[in-house]
Amino acid sequence: MKILVTGGAGFVGSNFVHRTLATRPWVKIIVLDALTYSGRMANLHGVLESIEFVRGDVRDRLLLEELVPRVDAVVHFAAESHNDNSLKNPSIFLESNILGTYSLIDSCLRHDVRFHQISTDEVYGDLSLEDKIRFTSDSAYNPSSPYSASKAAADMLVRAWVRSFELRATISNCSNNYGPRQHEEKFIPRTILLAASGIKPKIYGTGKNVRDWIHVDDHSDGVWAILDRGQIGRTYLLGANQERSNLQVLKYILDHLGLKEDFFECVADRPGHDMRYALDASKTNKELGWEPQHRNFEDGLGGIIDHYLERLDSGEVDLSKISNNGASLGL
Ligand code: NAD
Ligand code: DAU
Repeated sequence: MKILVTGGAGFVGSNFVHRTLATRPWVKIIVLDALTYSGRMANLHGVLESIEFVRGDVRDRLLLEELVPRVDAVVHFAAESHNDNSLKNPSIFLESNILGTYSLIDSCLRHDVRFHQISTDEVYGDLSLEDKIRFTSDSAYNPSSPYSASKAAADMLVRAWVRSFELRATISNCSNNYGPRQHEEKFIPRTILLAASGIKPKIYGTGKNVRDWIHVDDHSDGVWAILDRGQIGRTYLLGANQERSNLQVLKYILDHLGLKEDFFECVADRPGHDMRYALDASKTNKELGWEPQHRNFEDGLGGIIDHYLERLDSGEVDLSKISNNGASLGL
């Protein structure tokens, strides 16, 4: 089997490449990545000799004409991924996330190639802290930010292409990932890197916002369960049932680093900040037999903190970019 992995130099995509080669060494991989500010060749360290890497944009139709016919499936991770950036510069989110997905599904349709859309739980909007329900794959889309709206729009294109043109596609909507190789603009790496450097980490608003944290390897295994056994046209939710408030996550990190639990500062809230995400992934568990192997978030997180401390020691992190008092802007 040969697959095209878009966005394979980013956080989730590169972990998918590492995980695939470790668990399915027979799979041939082409990575297509534009190497924007969030893509790093270093994320592919150790696997570069086993894959084909192409630097390019998913909107480049001529390039897709060369690559797509060479593979059995496209797994589409490439995206602008950070909510804070989308509030400052929405247009690139529309271009990469919506038009990029359009170029890929158009090419997959013409060459009859299977397509898998990597999406997010954020397309369903948020829940209150008191809500008893969790989102299912039948929940209505109700995105809040330019980022989540662009992901929702891309998912809608995929659904329409399945129905109107019989594109062989599936979608997965996953909750917040943690693991190695995440860009330092995101909450967990930013908090670890700032705290370990003696700079107070930033909590947006009250810190009561809740996310359901899943280990990135469990996300990758879920995508493979869908590629292997998923039904064309279906949406599958991938969540770990590990809801934690931002303050809980922060305090765990501070404790792990031996710092006082009040070593942080509250900064202005993210506009439109989603309060809580929670998925009911039981249908995916039952239908595909997939379930997260990292069952406890704190155990999983404890295992990756050293990875970020090593990155700090290597001097590759520009602390000035993430130490301002509000949202970082990686662009
Ligand atoms: P990331 O920002 O770390 O990586 C994105 C990658 O895509 C980068 O390597 C970048 O260079 C590449 N890219 C961006 N625009 C491109 C373009 N136009 N053409 C080619 N390459 C381009 O993001 P991430 O956190 O790894 O997220 C990857 C995917 O997973 C996204 O689709 C995101 O919506 C989805 N997702 C992420 C999470 C999470 O918690 N990180 C959770 C659920 C879903
Ligand atoms: O839910 C899946 C989504 O998870 C993915 O689709 C996105 O690509 C990914 O970035 C992530 O989105 P979030 O906005 O939830 O992640 P982020 O790491 O930016 O923030 C997590 C929470 O922490 C959120 O409530 C905002 C808060 N936060 C974030 C930063 C960077 C802080 O309190 N302080 C910070 O410094």
